[in-house]
Amino acid sequence: MTRSTNNMYKQILTVSTKYHIPMMNRNQTFLCLVLLMLWSTGTYAQTRKDQPVYKDASQPIESRIDDLLSRMTLEEKVMQLNQYTLGRNNNANNVEETVKELSAEIGSLIYFDSSAGLRNTAQRKAMNESRLGIPILFAHDVIHGFRTVYPISLAQACSWNPGLVKQACAVAAQESRMSGTDWTFSPMIDVARDGRWGRVAEGYGEDPYTNAVFGVASVQGYQGDDLSSPTRIAACLKHYVGYGASEAGRDYMYTEISGQTLWDTYMLPYEEGIKAGAATVMSCFNDISGTPGTASHYILTEILKERWQHDGFVVSDWGAIQQLRSQGVAADRKEAAQKAFLAGVEMDMMNECYDNHLATLVEEGTVPMSLVDDAVRRVLRLKFRLGLFENPYTPEIPEEERLLLPENVDIARQLAEESMVLLKNENHTLPLKNVSKIAVIGPMTQEKDHLLGSWYGHGRGRDVESIYEGLEKEFAGTSQLLYAQGCAFDGEDRSGFAEALRTAAEADVLLVCLGEKRAWSGENASRSTLALPAIQEELVEELYALGKPIVLILSSGRPLELCRLEPLSNAILEIWQPGIAGGTPLAGILSGRVNPSGKLSITFPYSTGQIPIYYNHRQSARTNQGKYQDIPSTPLYEFAHGLSYTTYEYGTLTASATTLKRGEKLIVEIPMSNTGAMDGAETVHWFIRDPVSSISRPVKELKHFEKQLIRQGESRTFRFEIDPERDFSFVDATGKRFLEAGEYQVIVKDQVVKVQLVD
Ligand code: NOJ
Repeated sequence: MTRSTNNMYKQILTVSTKYHIPMMNRNQTFLCLVLLMLWSTGTYAQTRKDQPVYKDASQPIESRIDDLLSRMTLEEKVMQLNQYTLGRNNNANNVEETVKELSAEIGSLIYFDSSAGLRNTAQRKAMNESRLGIPILFAHDVIHGFRTVYPISLAQACSWNPGLVKQACAVAAQESRMSGTDWTFSPMIDVARDGRWGRVAEGYGEDPYTNAVFGVASVQGYQGDDLSSPTRIAACLKHYVGYGASEAGRDYMYTEISGQTLWDTYMLPYEEGIKAGAATVMSCFNDISGTPGTASHYILTEILKERWQHDGFVVSDWGAIQQLRSQGVAADRKEAAQKAFLAGVEMDMMNECYDNHLATLVEEGTVPMSLVDDAVRRVLRLKFRLGLFENPYTPEIPEEERLLLPENVDIARQLAEESMVLLKNENHTLPLKNVSKIAVIGPMTQEKDHLLGSWYGHGRGRDVESIYEGLEKEFAGTSQLLYAQGCAFDGEDRSGFAEALRTAAEADVLLVCLGEKRAWSGENASRSTLALPAIQEELVEELYALGKPIVLILSSGRPLELCRLEPLSNAILEIWQPGIAGGTPLAGILSGRVNPSGKLSITFPYSTGQIPIYYNHRQSARTNQGKYQDIPSTPLYEFAHGLSYTTYEYGTLTASATTLKRGEKLIVEIPMSNTGAMDGAETVHWFIRDPVSSISRPVKELKHFEKQLIRQGESRTFRFEIDPERDFSFVDATGKRFLEAGEYQVIVKDQVVKVQLVD
């Protein structure tokens, strides 16, 4: 201690002893305590004023919401229930204008930018200029990747690898959150059985269980265990419910869905997604047998919130509230607002309904304030869970540190590889061995943009590896590639045919790369036929006349009608819309470096006239009659069809018991050997059939699947533990679950074991 400090201490001590503190009597002590309490309460009040409970991260979320709600005016509450868009580009002038027009109290914005700058500018306005500083929630359609675009969802399901899909969604979440997006409008888990509907690309195919499993995987991938992590985002199950049943595959059309079908087919993925903790749900556009989903109290409140106890919120689809007018259930926007809100839609996406009318509806007494509070509570809950009050801004870091990271591109590549489906392989046409000249022909060969598919996020054509680029790398030094485009995707111009024929004449094998442009599927992209345009089929017909082996490579956002192309082709490989990294996996399959393992998540009809055709249809009255007179009645490629280069020998399917009681479980097993000449990954699909029950059941229903790698010469056992309450039961038209005594069949390929459930 220095001398002077020492002196200072001495001085303090001297001063304190100068004042004599008298002894207090009991009354004085009591008075003192009261004063102390008042003082401390005052100090506490003072602290609370400085640091409201809602801003105190140490408080429980529900207490923070209570506190914030108690401070909000009706207008502030209503603004939390609206979502607008935030610009479409980051041109400096536009940004300034956009942010100037923005309400600082807005609840959510659809964010189109791929970096955080604009978000942070808008967020600063909310944090600094709004009375309570409530952060904005930023959303974007991240459907199959943000910048690292991976295959469309229909293809992902063909991988039968939900673990990999979870990883891909985690990549999408990381890229999104680090680029300013907190919330994705994904997954789409609408069971879809009509390939004419363009949105068939966005879901996981025709089967309810498959949609449920992949929906859950993607929710887990996006959200992880902690939404406040800087690499996770909130998911949104959409479009609740039945959108996939759009009549005749025409988008936005009404849907005719009985209560039984609603529960049998459409609800399961949503129920499972909610159990998995999906933060939000989007209401649908479709009118379900007379009540638009967006105005359905039954669907949105009785089932979602009351029965399933969802504590997140429902956002309308874009314009779905004001469209209640076109659907004929609301006379004007005000009535539409009232109907949607009372039904259970908490957030208005681009309708101009809640912002203009909700406060008036409350003041007039037609919408209860308690419901507004509940809705705002749900929106705030997500903002708190995302940690937006503590971390409203996104660190602005360079693209190369957050997008297209090599390990993430590897995941996209792996998923593309596992989702490609070998549909036909006559006489081992593939893999290509000892081929000196390969002709690569067709409009998809050099394409990049179309491989991205619909809803490609911030994907760029320049990030995509084309089919041709993949082939060049794979076959460099072993085979010579010859290229001719042959024709465009559509139109009538045959002028390229001659060159294609000349090129083909020089080659040993023809790879014909056909398919759909990316805008031919997705939203508002219905087609009357699943057939490719005539010009593409004609190109194959002409090439066929050369008598050379033809391998069709198909890239599409839907199942295709192949009844004319199939007889002309020796092998067919469906690569879907694989995203940025499809070229190498495709080339690997062609060369035999990769053994294909994808299997269809949706039936390929023989022709469009068979639609709707799907594996799990109900049992019918005369199974041998009622066939088409002019075409076959069976599909060209069934659900779960997919070939491999190796052979798998399925052993005998066995069950641990032939009779079981309620509450007991059953194990069914099937051994499998890889008897071919290559390692491979095989997926076993386990179906259940309930031949007689009080409500007619589908001919079979998928209840479990498993994919395992089996090395050449190795054997593995596939196992399914059946819980009858879960796997043998069925729902009625109200969603009530039943389990009836009687016979059940467990089916793997063409093997069946019968089991009796006894009371
Ligand atoms: C309409 C689509 O139906 C929906 O899926 C999408 O999330 C919204 N627009 C927002 O872009």
